Amino acid sequence: MAIVPFELRGKSVYVAGHRGMVGSALLRRLAREDVRLVTVDRHEVDLCNQAAVFDWFAKMRPQVVFLAAAKVGGIAANATLRAEFIYDNLAIAANVIHAAHQSGAEKLMFLGSSCIYPKLAAQPLREDSMLTGPLEPTNEPYAIAKIAGIKMAEAYRSQYGSDFISVMPTNLYGPGDNYHPEYSHVVAALIRRFHEAKVAGAKTVAVWGTGTPRREFLHADDMADACVHLMKTYSGAELINIGTGEDITIADFAGMVADIIGYRGEITFDTARPDGTPQKLLDVSRLERLGWRATISLEDGLKRAYEAFLAGAPVPAQ
Ligand SMILES: NC(=O)c1ccc[n+]([C@@H]2O[C@H](COP(=O)([O-])OP(=O)(O)OC[C@H]3O[C@@H](n4cnc5c(N)ncnc54)[C@H](OP(=O)(O)O)[C@@H]3O)[C@@H](O)[C@H]2O)c1
Repeated sequence: MAIVPFELRGKSVYVAGHRGMVGSALLRRLAREDVRLVTVDRHEVDLCNQAAVFDWFAKMRPQVVFLAAAKVGGIAANATLRAEFIYDNLAIAANVIHAAHQSGAEKLMFLGSSCIYPKLAAQPLREDSMLTGPLEPTNEPYAIAKIAGIKMAEAYRSQYGSDFISVMPTNLYGPGDNYHPEYSHVVAALIRRFHEAKVAGAKTVAVWGTGTPRREFLHADDMADACVHLMKTYSGAELINIGTGEDITIADFAGMVADIIGYRGEITFDTARPDGTPQKLLDVSRLERLGWRATISLEDGLKRAYEAFLAGAPVPAQ
């Protein structure tokens, strides 16, 4: 995988989704680069609105685009808001990628997800396993929309020579995560649940499933650093996974979150709840060949995430 240097210095850089967990981490990371940051709030430009997106790009003409806006959520959100997940994510990808092409953007990074890989693909998940088998049904609408975005970036590269690249992050967590009681991802859900249990003095916390599945987690600040690194060094049609290359059982992970939060009660496992796939780990060898590795340990990252949770909108005890 050859390194293809791309100069960010002096460029106008648009971060789509700048108020989100990854988008805000990208703003923090890009503040260390000599770039002109461009953002626009959703109430001014809804990225699902084609005319608004095309007009805004025609006016602003960003030279570099990080496409980190998406309709995002955990398993419950994906399983129930199926129409919103496919419509919003298709519309955002189609509008932003086409507008970037029309307005002459020099480079664009599309953020996909590890959900695009087949449910039963071999572990660790290699980038070339995309479209080799059926998807996990619960998040199929989201995954199909993400695959469409990847294929758009690839098609614009092949037809127009656009330098559009796609990256596939693992499970992310960190400041600005979504702590919605039903629609959050596992890290935010556990932080919230253990925090509430500690405050309420609860004696037990039930974690969904058997605790045996293995998952990989990457801090949003590492994610942002990897994105900036790849923007500067990678050009190609192939996907690049972004993760740590290490996984942990949900049981061990829950124990780590409980320790960090200071929850001293018992952790039980609600085996009536689904486990999902037994392991989800990304093969990060392409990323490592391009010269990047995660630096934030899971323990430090969780401490930082919990501090941000406490500083942000602490959830009242129930
Ligand atoms: N979180 C994960 O574990 C994870 C894992 C793999 C991949 N990813 C991918 O990483 C990217 C960033 O995810 P995230 O976790 O940062 O999500 P997030 O915190 O939910 O942020 C998403 C951002 O997109 C914006 N957005 C959504 N719909 C929009 C619309 N119609 N118009 C304008 N803005 C819109 C949101 O704006 P508002 O703030 O105004 O709502 C928000 O700023 C996404 O592409 C996601 O698919 C995330």
